[in-house]
Amino acid sequence: MRFLVREAGIRQFLDVGAGLPTADNTHELAQRIAPESRVVYVDNDPLVLVHAEALLAGSPEGACAYVDADVRDPERILAEAARTLDLGRPVALTMLGIMGQISDADRPAELVSALLSALPPGSYLALSDGTDTNEALNRAVEAYNQQSAHTYHLRSPQEIASWFAGLEPVEPGVVPTASWRTDPGDDATEAPDVSVAGVAKKA
Ligand SMILES: C[S@@+](CC[C@H](N)C(=O)[O-])C[C@H]1O[C@@H](n2cnc3c(N)ncnc32)[C@H](O)[C@@H]1O
Repeated sequence: MRFLVREAGIRQFLDVGAGLPTADNTHELAQRIAPESRVVYVDNDPLVLVHAEALLAGSPEGACAYVDADVRDPERILAEAARTLDLGRPVALTMLGIMGQISDADRPAELVSALLSALPPGSYLALSDGTDTNEALNRAVEAYNQQSAHTYHLRSPQEIASWFAGLEPVEPGVVPTASWRTDPGDDATEAPDVSVAGVAKKA
């Protein structure tokens, strides 16, 4: 978020897979640096919706909206986002920890690309997701998937990196999440081999 707001100058955010509100939500990080930032959160969990509506109030200069929608319906997400964001101006699409919940049958690469295709040049994709690079985690997820209605899909770093195809990579590329421009004082305690993150610009 610091890169997107300070260095890339982005002021509009589409945060798909927002998650339960916590400290330093997307709009708080963005509006702390640029109060005029406009943020649309998207999630399909009713519990997230209730908490988000209660807790996610943006700055008076900016905007903060919440959309109850499924990432597998990009057209609806874009139509709803257009109520708050100017889709003629650059937007940062953030998809942090969501695509692991999407099976191959739902074609995750195409979902990312459908959302991005509606955004103008100068927009960014910031995406992170769990990788299949840790044997203990692989086994745990396999066991979880056998008992859960919602399955999780760990993927190779190469497959996740392929979702950035056609975009201009931002250094250091798609790397272990804890290594993506960690600043001194950041909490980088996550084991480095369980997820990757990357940011890239639409030319
Ligand atoms: C692991 S959380 C990540 C939250 C936040 N982005 C973060 O990085 O802390 C994933 C979120 O994606 C949401 N999600 C899962 N499947 C979804 C779908 N098909 N459509 C929209 N949101 C979904 C979940 O409800 C959950 O809030």
